[in-house]
Amino acid sequence: MMKDLFDISGRIAVVTGANSGIGSAAAELLASKGANVALIGRREPDDPAIVELLGNVEEHKTLCKYYQCSVSTESDVVATAQRIKKDFGRVDILFNNAAAAKLMFLEEMTEEQWDLTVDTSLKGTFLCCREFGKIMIEQKRGAIVNMASIAGVLGLPRGTAHHSAAKAGVMGFTRAAAVEWAKHGIRVNTIVPGQIGTSSLQKVFETNEKFKQDILNDIPLGRVGLPEEIAHSVLFLVSDAAGFITGQTLIADGGTVIK
Ligand SMILES: NC(=O)c1ccc[n+]([C@@H]2O[C@H](COP(=O)([O-])OP(=O)(O)OC[C@H]3O[C@@H](n4cnc5c(N)ncnc54)[C@H](OP(=O)(O)O)[C@@H]3O)[C@@H](O)[C@H]2O)c1
Repeated sequence: MMKDLFDISGRIAVVTGANSGIGSAAAELLASKGANVALIGRREPDDPAIVELLGNVEEHKTLCKYYQCSVSTESDVVATAQRIKKDFGRVDILFNNAAAAKLMFLEEMTEEQWDLTVDTSLKGTFLCCREFGKIMIEQKRGAIVNMASIAGVLGLPRGTAHHSAAKAGVMGFTRAAAVEWAKHGIRVNTIVPGQIGTSSLQKVFETNEKFKQDILNDIPLGRVGLPEEIAHSVLFLVSDAAGFITGQTLIADGGTVIK
């Protein structure tokens, strides 16, 4: 019988920013493919979003635990990586998905917003890679997916300069990490989603028809993506099907950047 290259049964997967959108879709998909999942978010464990997330992931009957941790705070990430190692014994998969970006035009950009965005997307990715990467180095095996965005590839006129800078940084960071850690058996790749129909985008679509049409006109496939479709790309990159792929940027955007 042919081996199922997408079977990740028994592997330990860490997902950051797991309580909404793409993060929760990835957490559920990885659990449905057999992974035990450690979910990271900045909210209290009794927050309704966390309770709902755990309920959805636990349906897949794999081990699942939530850790309150801000990915941009070094002491939080160091302590959480140690707790996850103690609770699960190892870490095979890391999906660095957390981000925070409020749209703001450049001439009005505050230092606070710049720092929040860059610290969450870029520094958070670095800190999580460093701490979970140390565990993977001991194991001589691991797969990391870092989350970027088409905002890091294209110039967009929508107040994304801080977000664009952080996500372009994530892509450069990923290539350097992939080359440094190839000798440890660790693969590191980036996903670049286009416009994805998470609940926040759907809310804007309902109130701003022009914005919606502008966005859809930029997408050759004529629709926004689903969070689950980005989760599928995550599964591919962390699975054995992508065993010879590292340092790459997988663009899942309905054709936007090739237009
Ligand atoms: N949706 C799109 O169209 C799109 C397109 C391209 C790229 N992306 C990228 O995809 C990723 C997920 O986006 P999404 O659309 O699913 O947005 P989202 O729902 O806002 O997800 C971001 C997650 O990160 C969490 N987070 C923020 N700061 C954190 C911190 N310091 N520590 C830990 N967690 C933190 C958020 O928690 P709270 O809920 O508590 O804020 C939230 O769960 C992001 O990296 C985003 O840039 C999204």
